[in-house]
Amino acid sequence: MLRTFSSRFLVKFLNHGLVASSKPLRVGNERSPTRGYYTGRTRDPGPGRVAPFRVVDLRSDTVTKPGPAMRRAMAEAEVGDDVMGEDPTVNELQKITADMFGMEAALFVPSGTMGNLIAVMVHCRERGDEMIVGDLCHIHVYEQGNSAQLAGVHSTTVTTLPDGTFNLDQLESKIRHGYPDPHYPRSRLICLENTHNIQGGRVLPLSFLQEVRALADEYGLSVHMDGARVMNAAVAQDVPPSTILQHTHTVSACLSKGLGAPVGSMLAGPQDFISKAIRCRKALGGATRQAGILAAAGKVSLQDMVGRLVEDHHNARTFAQALLDCPSPLFAVDMAAVETNILRFRLQDPSLSPQEFCGRMAQVGEGEEAALGQGIQVLMYPHFENSIRAVWHLGISPEDTQLAIQKMQFVASQHFKEKVRAQ
Ligand SMILES: Cc1ncc(COP(=O)(O)O)c(C=O)c1O
Repeated sequence: MLRTFSSRFLVKFLNHGLVASSKPLRVGNERSPTRGYYTGRTRDPGPGRVAPFRVVDLRSDTVTKPGPAMRRAMAEAEVGDDVMGEDPTVNELQKITADMFGMEAALFVPSGTMGNLIAVMVHCRERGDEMIVGDLCHIHVYEQGNSAQLAGVHSTTVTTLPDGTFNLDQLESKIRHGYPDPHYPRSRLICLENTHNIQGGRVLPLSFLQEVRALADEYGLSVHMDGARVMNAAVAQDVPPSTILQHTHTVSACLSKGLGAPVGSMLAGPQDFISKAIRCRKALGGATRQAGILAAAGKVSLQDMVGRLVEDHHNARTFAQALLDCPSPLFAVDMAAVETNILRFRLQDPSLSPQEFCGRMAQVGEGEEAALGQGIQVLMYPHFENSIRAVWHLGISPEDTQLAIQKMQFVASQHFKEKVRAQ
């Protein structure tokens, strides 16, 4: 609901205040010659304005676009019919993933949502089986209840703590012991999310993963990780992903977020799990034919794009620190919680709502071009529990981050001037 609300809010903005121009927008992507991928955009200023606006899009790491090397790899990919298992590029990507993740096998799927759903379907094979999920996890909040809707799987929730973990006693208390008494569902699966999206890109500690796995083993349950951003977690912990994934039975990892591929996620686990997953993917309409064109992008993601995630983490921290250092003391940030590329922060002044703040960041305000030398539109979303979310990704350079900081300082100072005038 929150996401729907925020999307609607932004669409409204894009349609009205922020770019009120009779002319269609010409959004030009500029390729950074040094970084080799697409970075900060300029936008036609519209009638009556002189300088082009700069756009810094911090809404999500899903907005990334494939750069030239990735596009070349896609154009040159060898392909075959993947439903027949004959696409060499898909097969190679699956092998690379399995090796990297320390899993027996992997499967290319169209999206993270489908990867998670397939995992739930394979782990929970009887209608009425139950999975335990965090109450703020993507699977529970943002995937339309697909496990109930399409797979007949029941969910029970544990409280997601601010660092993305659970209380282990609460987790244990949610495991059912009634089966085969017909009153009860049967506990089958525990789902984890790493990094945790709603909680601001938090990285699950390895000790927590180990404890969850021990509990799962004790009760004969499986552990699936929604690892949409598990590579961010690996980079933040400075470990190979297999060190994280040794504690889970299966994982779904997105190629199309910070790793920059246009489409695709990797589902990985034991060979018999992947054999069953292939059947589920087909039933869900996710089996595709000459998918090597997309898998080629995925190979570039895993082989060339992981190393640069550290830049996103660094840029997120730079912006977070600037919020704290802002001369107009408007922002609250927990720096210890800024572990990866997702930043959550709050406004300390109740007279400025997250919606209003995001609105001001997204429009070029009066006097801004004179004060900053150009118009800067910074896109970010109002988020969970009255916070604001900003996400760094390969389209955002250190220079873009500095522009976002300038804009944030401008908006904060304007707000305080307005308050003083109103007093
Ligand atoms: C944690 C998490 N899991 C799963 C997904 C779903 O991925 P997709 O958009 O590829 O379906 C997302 C997407 O934002 C996510 O953040």
